[in-house]
Amino acid sequence: MKKNIENQDWAAIWREGHTVFIIDQTKLPFHFEIVELYTYLETANAIRDMLLRGAGTIGVAAGYAMAQAFAECSTEKDLQKAKLYIESSRPTAQNLFYATKRVYEEARNAENPDTKAFETADQILHEDEKNSRIMGELGAELIKDGFNILTHCNAGKLAIQGWGSALAPIYVAHEQGKNIFVYADETRPRLQGAKLTAWELQQAGIPHAIIVDNAAGSYMLQKKIDIVFVGADRIACNGDVANKIGTYEKAVLAKENNIPFYVVSPCSTIDFSCRHGADIPIEERSADEVKKLGKVLIVNAESNALNPAFDVTPAKYITGIITENGIHKPEDIHTLK
Ligand code: MRU
Repeated sequence: MKKNIENQDWAAIWREGHTVFIIDQTKLPFHFEIVELYTYLETANAIRDMLLRGAGTIGVAAGYAMAQAFAECSTEKDLQKAKLYIESSRPTAQNLFYATKRVYEEARNAENPDTKAFETADQILHEDEKNSRIMGELGAELIKDGFNILTHCNAGKLAIQGWGSALAPIYVAHEQGKNIFVYADETRPRLQGAKLTAWELQQAGIPHAIIVDNAAGSYMLQKKIDIVFVGADRIACNGDVANKIGTYEKAVLAKENNIPFYVVSPCSTIDFSCRHGADIPIEERSADEVKKLGKVLIVNAESNALNPAFDVTPAKYITGIITENGIHKPEDIHTLK
């Protein structure tokens, strides 16, 4: 098992030579399995099939897939084909496009493109680790002793290297000895909150409870939630934020109840070519994810189901966006370009 982060004994993704290693997140929390990915096709398919997920980890995997493509493709035409294939694996996470573009552009004219491509992908991973810590320290300043915190989906170490994004302030506050409690939304349909966030919090010894997605509003009304931290999959120039489906309604409820609502995300998630949230492509996933729990059908087979994986929270509901550069008003996010 990889031991590459101080005081942690696992990482969601790393590479040795040209081989990419990931934790198979579809098996958590019951089985801790490492999968080895040897080719760009295998790495891109692991992104598509969600063996790994979370914008940061998707970005790092896409960077490594692009580097594997440099090693495998002998013509520019094949390399372009590979880039398109990797970029078609998941449409919403901006980090995926950031990483493929950066690896491609930095490696294509290098003396040794394969080596440069892997080095650039490593660099993206290391920047995520560094930025995660900075965001964690900035966010922890907002957490007072005794705070109850709500988070949605999984924006922890499985989703971005280091300490995660939304979970980073929580890890740091816990490390600082603050007495905190975390409400983890279960996050239907794939249950990233119940399966992954709760697993991470349990491992770290952070007091928490899993709640069903419909419960957060009631806890807010009862004044049981002091602050909300979520991650982001893509941030538009006007400060609108795409994140896991259900984020928008939590933000509206937080505003209604005067609870600060923070998005925690590195600048690599900002899409400077996207003017507002309505332009962010939202991934539509299989109806089966809604109709089944695991492999078990829980509704009548004939009913259809709709399954958008993300929603867009308008900037006006967001108290602040925490990046590695500071805590910003959403409307100022475009100035980071
Ligand atoms: O569909 P997923 O599991 O990839 O969605 C993940 C999220 O929505 C996270 O909140 C987001 O990626 C931010 S964490 C870097």
